[in-house]
Amino acid sequence: MSDEQTGGKSHMSDAAITIEGLRKTYRGGKGQPEKQALKGIDLTIPRGSVFGLLGPNGAGKSTMINILAGLVVKSAGHVSIWGFDQDKHPRQSRAAIGVMPQELNLDPFFTPRGALEVQAGLYGVPKAQRRSDEILELVGLSDKAEAYARTLSGGMRRRLLLAKALVHHPKILVLDEPTAGVDIELRQMLWTNVHKLNDQGMTIILTTHYLEEAQEMCDEIAIINHGQKIAQDSTANLLSRMDSRTMVIVPDSPIVDLPTTDGVEAALRDDGSLELNYRSAQTTAEQVLEAVRAANIRIRDVRTEEADLEDVFLALTAARADDPPADDHDQPRRGMHRVKL
Ligand SMILES: Nc1ncnc2c1ncn2[C@@H]1O[C@H](COP(=O)(O)OP(=O)(O)OP(=O)(O)O)[C@@H](O)[C@H]1O
Ligand SMILES: [Mg+2]
Repeated sequence: MSDEQTGGKSHMSDAAITIEGLRKTYRGGKGQPEKQALKGIDLTIPRGSVFGLLGPNGAGKSTMINILAGLVVKSAGHVSIWGFDQDKHPRQSRAAIGVMPQELNLDPFFTPRGALEVQAGLYGVPKAQRRSDEILELVGLSDKAEAYARTLSGGMRRRLLLAKALVHHPKILVLDEPTAGVDIELRQMLWTNVHKLNDQGMTIILTTHYLEEAQEMCDEIAIINHGQKIAQDSTANLLSRMDSRTMVIVPDSPIVDLPTTDGVEAALRDDGSLELNYRSAQTTAEQVLEAVRAANIRIRDVRTEEADLEDVFLALTAARADDPPADDHDQPRRGMHRVKL
């Protein structure tokens, strides 16, 4: 790849997307104050990954994605898509990316096949290279190919938006909340296609509020909050940052005395089981069990609960609770005092 294509940053050429100092300030209309939706984000997304962009409502995820898609004009910063600087090479950078937006913005007078043809035309895909029927098949819309968009259900509209994002064979597919409010079948279809396209080499970027989904699907995750990136790491590393563990003991007979041992916090649950919270870096499971035996509790059953992405997410977004509340989108914050990252 030439220096020109990479905007002078050839060492970045293995990135699908490079974002530097990205800012967006929405002008406030009608007495509304302006809104700093992105406050200087740096982000590198590796090629070939399934990359998750997570953050509470109003964090700035869609703003960022819409800037990548060329739908929102950035206020400052640099964006490079597949090595093409968005400002210097708008056509090439646009051709490298397909975006399925969060909003169901479809022209009601087009049929799915018509919409795909128009989209292919916009991207300059020659007639011979168009694969509208194949794409409709992929998203499960073949039998609706000639139906007007306004007669499609919400789920069908999402399928069509995905199809539209794929017409120009983009290197990068971006999905903004693809599974919000969709049924199980559509969710399955989406994830099957994400796996399939990623296996074929497509880089996938997605936002989701289903953290389980992100945990399962994404190799790497960035968390943004109030327009700032607060974490970026492999999913495995993010999870391993959380060393809080919970052991749950089902006792043989009702518990009278709770174990008291340093580093172990004990509490009775409503169902009579005993919850023991500890940090795996400081206390071993063996020490927890010893504390249980010392309290003369006979164990009928035992299981452990590990931190999941939701815990990581809550800990990270709560860690910024000292930030002044930026807007009315502020997430209710559940205390995660036992976790310090
Ligand atoms: N067109 C706009 N004009 C003014 N403010 C906007 C506009 N679009 C978004 N915002 C504001 O920018 C901030 C970020 O919004 P954005 O839609 O990017 O968040 P998000 O992370 O995608 O949230 P969600 O999870 O709810 O989709 C919010 O405070 C929002 O109110
Ligand atoms: Mg959004």
